[in-house]
Amino acid sequence: MHEGRAAIPFFPELVSKKISESSSQPTPSSAFSIYSNGQSFYEWLHSPPQVERNVNFNLAMRSVAQTEGLAFLPVDYPFNALPVNKVIVDVGGGIGALPAALLPSLPDHSFIVQDLAPVVSQANSTEDPCMRDWIMKGKVRFCIQDFFAPQPPELNGAVFVIKNVINRHNYGDSEALNILLSLRKSTPYRLLLIDRLVIPQLGKIHKVQATEIAGNAAGSQRGATLYDLVMASLHGGKNRTLEEWSRLLVLGGFRLESVFPLRASTGQAVIEATCIEGS
Ligand SMILES: C[S@@+](CC[C@H](N)C(=O)[O-])C[C@H]1O[C@@H](n2cnc3c(N)ncnc32)[C@H](O)[C@@H]1O
Repeated sequence: MHEGRAAIPFFPELVSKKISESSSQPTPSSAFSIYSNGQSFYEWLHSPPQVERNVNFNLAMRSVAQTEGLAFLPVDYPFNALPVNKVIVDVGGGIGALPAALLPSLPDHSFIVQDLAPVVSQANSTEDPCMRDWIMKGKVRFCIQDFFAPQPPELNGAVFVIKNVINRHNYGDSEALNILLSLRKSTPYRLLLIDRLVIPQLGKIHKVQATEIAGNAAGSQRGATLYDLVMASLHGGKNRTLEEWSRLLVLGGFRLESVFPLRASTGQAVIEATCIEGS
């Protein structure tokens, strides 16, 4: 909470710069760009003065993930239909909320969680006994991997999950596309984008869940739209509609196959995609 309060003094500056737009002063692209002196969010968060803040951010992301439908994930998407010999790679996965939610019901699968170095170091020093046990048994491996860089060749054909990365943090279409293009080079068996969907187009949603989601659509929509505004003002980012996701995926060499909305979430869905051959 005190972090939010600390940001308040920066808002008048943002507003006054916006007002002086016509006086040819540069306009900040987002509230955060004023706060961070032009650094990107993760450059700033991973800079030495922010070490403690980064640790708290990663813990907070795990808590947010747990309240945004992770408990329903194994039910809402048929993970158990994925072949067990396909490792599940969680790209920008933080400190391991995804494998922690899935392993109890998918004990035969194994996970690689990729993130930047400080996050991987925090994840590997966990004191959580379950996670320690999974790490020791090789069920979960935390690896340093920049998602803008090519994936290691041994991950060719893996299942790639990218959850709350593209929409959540200031990735406009060109950066989002670069992330997808670098994943596409490793020919994923499946790409599972878990993110927000603005205005779920129910006709295209997985049949089993369409009715249930229709009942929850208003609540989901409020959440997705609210996050859209927050991301736009804070980071210059955005949430996407199904059409926008579909277009982005095609440019990245993927075909949108199906959409599995998550229950009890703020407009989150699993957007399942496969590789377009020859692209
Ligand atoms: C919004 S958090 C989402 C974390 C997790 N996927 C979830 O759903 O809770 C974004 C994550 O992406 C990581 N990240 C940011 N830039 C990255 C990069 N260039 N390469 C890999 N990971 C990155 C961050 O450290 C952070 O853990």
